[in-house]
Amino acid sequence: MNPDIPVQLLGGITAREFLRDYWQKKPLLIRQAIPDFESPIDPDELAGLALEEEVESRLIIENGVRPWEMRRGPFAEDEFSKLPETEWTLLVQAVDQFVPEVAELLENFRFLPSWRIDDVMISYAAPGGSVGPHFDNYDVFLLQGHGKRHWKIGQMCDTDSPLLEHADLRILADFQGSDEWTLEPGDMLYLPPRLAHWGVAVDDCLTYSVGFRAPSAAEVLTHFTDFLSQFMSDEERYTDADAQPVSDPHQIQRDALDRLKALLAEHMGDERLLLTWFGQFMTEPRYPELVTGPELDDAELLDSLEQGAILIRNPSARLAWSEVDEDLLLFASGQSRLLPGRLRELLKLVCAADALHMDNLGQWLADEDGRDLLCELVKQGSLGFADE
Ligand code: SIN
Ligand code: CO
Repeated sequence: MNPDIPVQLLGGITAREFLRDYWQKKPLLIRQAIPDFESPIDPDELAGLALEEEVESRLIIENGVRPWEMRRGPFAEDEFSKLPETEWTLLVQAVDQFVPEVAELLENFRFLPSWRIDDVMISYAAPGGSVGPHFDNYDVFLLQGHGKRHWKIGQMCDTDSPLLEHADLRILADFQGSDEWTLEPGDMLYLPPRLAHWGVAVDDCLTYSVGFRAPSAAEVLTHFTDFLSQFMSDEERYTDADAQPVSDPHQIQRDALDRLKALLAEHMGDERLLLTWFGQFMTEPRYPELVTGPELDDAELLDSLEQGAILIRNPSARLAWSEVDEDLLLFASGQSRLLPGRLRELLKLVCAADALHMDNLGQWLADEDGRDLLCELVKQGSLGFADE
């Protein structure tokens, strides 16, 4: 996409301007980001999702058995009828995985890398409902889906910001409001990480939160080193064949530290492994159990496609690709595959196309690596047959 064309979703500024001036820096209110937006899901359907075992959901009741009572789903149907008239919120995580029309909304965010997007959470709030003043460690776009919500934004926060005592929720003890707006359907508020915010439902309201993935430094280090350690033998150890006589045997000297730093640098500096780990990590599905496929061989796949079968991306799968020297890496739902550079257009097609069929796959099916790749993706569950 052209970064210099005004984007309706961003209120008419370009992707370049948004990234330069707002992304990870400051909030942006966009009136009618999606003009005349009609929520593809209604409150009853959202409540229906919260009854399902595999769907992550929470209820937050401001004046429940204790202040800001939180219950985790799945919920029983009669639980909703016992709720008060006002001041509660139902939050359902990753609705994009279950409702294709919600996943389609993400097409509007193609000015950002798709592997940075985490999920679309949808909340339903009864009048006065809120999850309290808080901050998140991630960027978020808050799109108003139905009804009105009054948003206040406040100070920048961090781990030292005082919180109310609460076992599950991180509600700010001190909220210093700086700006406020009432959002109507189609209006959207972008918030950078750590900015305090507080949204209160004016009437029955649905709010869509498009959230992002950003691993913490601690996650990067622990997961990457775990990944690296699979490739190291037990024989590879701290060595000091160059050791010199020491004057005090109890002292750890500078040369020991230098040897350790060299050992770390040798492994941590391996860009190919870093990229492989990162791609796998960022494409890990939220629900891996929803990414499974059938046993299949190349000939069966080819046969099905020749008979008119259509392959579509599993909504629970995550795909990305990258270059390594002359080769390419495809990341699919937490796994990676090294492929020859000539498959570049196929990788782009697999990551971006709504549907794969004889017409757009044609030439790639004659390529053994291309065919194998498609077959592996179906077996892994990242791609599936449309009518299944
Ligand atoms: C909500 O939808 O009620 C909360 C969303 C958020 O503050 O991140
Ligand atoms: Co929030």
